[in-house]
Amino acid sequence: MSAQEHFANIASVYEKGTGGATRQIATHLVQLASPISADAKILDNACGTGVVIDELLATVPDPHVRNSLKFTATDAASPMIELVKGKVEEQWHIPADSITALTLAAENLDDVASDNFDYSFTNFGFLFFKDADKAAKHVYRTLKPGGRAFITSWKDLGYMKAVQQAAIKVRPDRPPPYLPFDLAWLDSAHIKAVFERAGFQNVEVHDQQSSYTADSVTRLSQSLIGMMEGMLKMQGWTDGEVKSLEPELECTIQASDDVLVVEQNVAWIKMMAHVAVCIK
Ligand SMILES: C[S@@+](CC[C@H](N)C(=O)[O-])C[C@H]1O[C@@H](n2cnc3c(N)ncnc32)[C@H](O)[C@@H]1O
Repeated sequence: MSAQEHFANIASVYEKGTGGATRQIATHLVQLASPISADAKILDNACGTGVVIDELLATVPDPHVRNSLKFTATDAASPMIELVKGKVEEQWHIPADSITALTLAAENLDDVASDNFDYSFTNFGFLFFKDADKAAKHVYRTLKPGGRAFITSWKDLGYMKAVQQAAIKVRPDRPPPYLPFDLAWLDSAHIKAVFERAGFQNVEVHDQQSSYTADSVTRLSQSLIGMMEGMLKMQGWTDGEVKSLEPELECTIQASDDVLVVEQNVAWIKMMAHVAVCIK
């Protein structure tokens, strides 16, 4: 199963599965980009359910500016694009012609005009692309001179140690689960190199905290299993093994003092993202 097939299958439950982690970084990106100017053209690349657009519109209270913005939302998974289209009038309350939502792989933005966008966001997309260099060249090409591209990846997912410890209890003789992307994306130097190769001369990468959040440790464990079920099955896990993982994961998360924070009605695992700001 490819990354885009996986995301197409889980589109309707995607947001629960992220534990708010990508949304917190989207909020940070929008703060970096703000104030968003009237008539700005904005790309949300690998948009998923459109969390970047959600957060961006939340920071623009002036209805004249909101209605003047022109969004392009692209994702390789068509169920994600259908969800985005559903948000336009029901949730975002922007004119239908303010947004062009297209099922398109990031490696295949040939029909999108060059020198077009003032802001370009790819929030946690590049890890999953088949050809990151090709996709990065499209980010560069479609950005206006002087425009800014905001690209993110994970530095530390926080929960993987707990997942691997729990997995060893369920499948002691098999290798533990591994992340379904090239681990080079955990390294800021890799991100900088990809975007410099694409043509950017000004690429700055910084760290930004995020968290995987739920209302209890039990729910944290349930949401993580829900998000990782497809990945585990691709790595040879049976339904029974995935079911057995949940209580074990809850125990290992409970014992993860270094990354777990529990307060009244909320529990979260600390995460760290890489944020690249690239100016054309
Ligand atoms: C982790 S999600 C991020 C979604 C959203 N940007 C967010 O911040 O929550 C990754 C997204 O990349 C999309 N994706 C995977 N491969 C892709 C590709 N080659 N081109 C475009 N989108 C792709 C998936 O369908 C999914 O929506």
